[in-house]
Amino acid sequence: MKKDLISITDYSKEEYLRIMDLATEFEEDPNQDLLKGKVVASLFFEPSTRTRLSFETAISRLGGRIVGFADPGSSSATKGETLHDTIKMVSNYADLIVMRHPLEGAARYAAEVSSVPVINAGDGANQHPTQTLLDMYSILKTQETLDNINLFMVGDLKYGRTVHSLLQAMSEFENPIFNFIAPKILQMPNAYKIALKEKGIKFFEHEEFTDIISEADIIYMTRVQKERFSDPIEYEKVKNVYILRNSMLDNTKPNVKILHPLPRVNEIHPDVDSNSKAYYFEQALNGVFAREAIITHTMNLK
Ligand code: CP
Repeated sequence: MKKDLISITDYSKEEYLRIMDLATEFEEDPNQDLLKGKVVASLFFEPSTRTRLSFETAISRLGGRIVGFADPGSSSATKGETLHDTIKMVSNYADLIVMRHPLEGAARYAAEVSSVPVINAGDGANQHPTQTLLDMYSILKTQETLDNINLFMVGDLKYGRTVHSLLQAMSEFENPIFNFIAPKILQMPNAYKIALKEKGIKFFEHEEFTDIISEADIIYMTRVQKERFSDPIEYEKVKNVYILRNSMLDNTKPNVKILHPLPRVNEIHPDVDSNSKAYYFEQALNGVFAREAIITHTMNLK
C-alpha cells in the first residue's frame, strides 16, 4: 500500500522517531543516491520559498529528478483543469508527488486520486506536516529531548497550519506544556484544545507573554497571515500585535530557542537575529535533512 503524509497524525510516534534518526543520518551525510532513476513532481499551487526549495534540494541530494511548477499560473489549472485531472496525469509521470495547495483538504483529496504517494507541503490553514517534522528535529537537536518541553506558540494560532501540526505531534511525547499566546480573534481553534483536554495535557492561553517568557524552552513565533483574512481591517488590527525584541530575551532560560517557520514580517525584530537563542535560520536548514528523511521513509528507500 502506498504511504502518504497528509496530516501529521498519519505517522505514529515510532515514525516521528524514525524520521528524527534518518534526519540525523542525512545531516551527517546528505548526498546519497537513494532516489536515482526516480522522478518527483513538485506542485506548488500557493507561494513558497523554504518548503519548495528545501524539498528540491533534498530530492537533488538524494539523486532524484524534479518536474512540476512553482506557479499554478503556468499550469493548465488556469484553463480550468480540475485538481482531480491534474493529479491523475501527474501520478502517471512521477514516482512521488509533493503538493502545496490553498484549500484545506486538497492534499487528502489528491492522495485519494493519486496512484503514487503524496506528501502534503501545506494545505490552507489545515496542516503542514513536513514543517512539523523539521520543527521537531530542531527541538530535539537543541533540547536533546522531545519530552517535558514548555512550548510557547505565539501569533496566528487560528490559521497557522504549522502550530496545528506541531501541537498534535508534541502531544505524543511525555509531559508537554503548551502556552498559547494570541489575540482573541486568532486563538487556537477549540478542536485542538478539546483534544488536549481529553489527553490530560496542560495548556494555558494568554494575550501577552512578556511576564511569563522566562518559563519557555521553545518560543515558536508565527506570522499573522494576511492571505487568510477576508476582511483587511481585521488584519490591520492584529498584524503587529507581537514583536519579539532582543531585550525581551534577557531573563529567558539559557537554552531557550526561538523558532519560526518563516517567512517573518515584523514579529521578530532583526535585533534578535544575532542572539544565540535565535534558531530560525538553522531550523530552515534542518528542513533539508528532515525532508530527505521523509522522502526516504515514504518511498521505503532505507
Ligand atoms: N515555512 C514555510 O512553509 O515557508 P514557505 O512558505 O516559504 O515554504
